[in-house]
Amino acid sequence: MIFPSLSSLVFTGILTTTLLAGGTVIAFDAETKSLQVIQNGPVLVVEDRIEAVCSGQYNRTFPSNLDIVNTTGDIITPGFIDTHHHSWQTAYKTIASNTILAEYFDRYGEFAVTWEYSPEDVYISQLAGLHETMNAGTTDPGLAASIDSGARMFRCYTFHNVMNYTFPEHMDKFEEIANSGRFNGTATSLGIAYDEFNPGSLAQIQKVIELARKYKVSVITTHSFQGIWRASNSPEDLNAPGILSTAIPVAALGVDVRFTYSTDILTQARLWHQSTRLAFYRWVLQNWKIPAHNPMSVDQAILLATRKGGLALRRPDLGIIAVGTNADVVARDGSTPGMLGWDDPVAAIILHANVGDIKHVLVDDRFLATASKIQAIWKAKAYPVSEGEFPESGFAYSRVPLSNTQRGEGDEYGEQFL
Ligand SMILES: *[C@@H]1O[C@H](CO)[C@@H](O)[C@H](O)[C@H]1NC(C)=O
Ligand SMILES: *[C@@H]1O[C@H](CO)[C@@H](O)[C@H](O)[C@H]1NC(C)=O
Ligand SMILES: *[C@@H]1O[C@H](CO)[C@@H](O)[C@H](O)[C@H]1NC(C)=O
Ligand SMILES: *[C@@H]1O[C@H](CO)[C@@H](O)[C@H](O)[C@H]1NC(C)=O
Ligand SMILES: [Zn+2]
Repeated sequence: MIFPSLSSLVFTGILTTTLLAGGTVIAFDAETKSLQVIQNGPVLVVEDRIEAVCSGQYNRTFPSNLDIVNTTGDIITPGFIDTHHHSWQTAYKTIASNTILAEYFDRYGEFAVTWEYSPEDVYISQLAGLHETMNAGTTDPGLAASIDSGARMFRCYTFHNVMNYTFPEHMDKFEEIANSGRFNGTATSLGIAYDEFNPGSLAQIQKVIELARKYKVSVITTHSFQGIWRASNSPEDLNAPGILSTAIPVAALGVDVRFTYSTDILTQARLWHQSTRLAFYRWVLQNWKIPAHNPMSVDQAILLATRKGGLALRRPDLGIIAVGTNADVVARDGSTPGMLGWDDPVAAIILHANVGDIKHVLVDDRFLATASKIQAIWKAKAYPVSEGEFPESGFAYSRVPLSNTQRGEGDEYGEQFL
């Protein structure tokens, strides 16, 4: 094939310029605010910005310093956006696959962490985690790892009253970090994580908000549990002190506890897509009616994992492929066994792609040592007894029906329900 070329653009000759040529691009049309699939659409990247996304006939010559990547047969999407997760917990990977939230608070959350999880472990765990995806973390070595990873992210300093680290100490630490200039020239920006909007103290909330405004933090993240979990932190709770900048909620995806879920946002988008269909079909099926259309399209699912994440972070330049936006793009091989035969590239990504279709970044060796050390310590700790009342909120524990794919009775077919 002959690659379309782009010579009318002016280059200084010192910039890094890359042309992704020959692929199918899932671009974004800023005017119609919708996805725009471009076949054989070359994407020109200058440094970290998308300089051109082409469609149709091009008949120009290449600038001499152009690095051309043959993406024929590939599907090019924006980089996916994870709006919230705890990278420092990566070292717990797989030791809590069947845990419950009440046990999480007791064993794995920041409230349960002691000296055994050393600053070095936090650094390594966070770095390894960030080499998988973006993050919003919790402690200081985590900051160093965030910056060192080179990942584009918002690192949210967490004001949680853990151990004997008091709120005034948190304020000092936050100001020290905000004033340090450590974010200058990096892909990391400073944010705040705070879970005490409700229940919480108004005086303390106001101090957190003052700091957020003073240092113009990019994002505030919170956990909204509600109901039996006590910690409400709902949009209403954030609106009350006047820090919701819009009344329109943006749905986006985040992994949160990265050791009990896949950190691949595509996997999360797929789970969300299928479970939304299940929930909405049920509304109609429960009334003995036939669903007349599909409640959630693949386009919605990919937007949830890309564009909507950018909007939630107030970064409309992230999560889309369009001229002038950030060049976080991913090319996936469209010819792997799972992908072969695709016509709609969005459906191919949302329903059939997997992480094996993209290239990986290698992680630091020290991560394996940290993971095995932390896992041995945590496996030896006593488990909490899930009986009586959940101490944080006073609601009672109750048994959950057990799934029966492993019932193991007789011939393993189990009981017939006729
Ligand atoms: C491309 O440009 C060359 C030289 O200017 C010209 O001869 C050729 O016909 C053009 N091709 C197309 C497809 O426009
Ligand atoms: C690009 O890759 C495709 C598929 O591998 C190949 O057929 C084509 O010849 C390549 N084009 C160039 C210009 O190398
Ligand atoms: C908590 O208190 C102990 C004993 O006074 C002290 O050694 C430790 O450094 C304190 N931890 C924090 C995080 O301030
Ligand atoms: C970081 O950038 C800010 C704003 O541009 C500037 O005021 C500050 O001096 C810089 N700090 C360092 C350590 O470079
Ligand atoms: Zn979280």
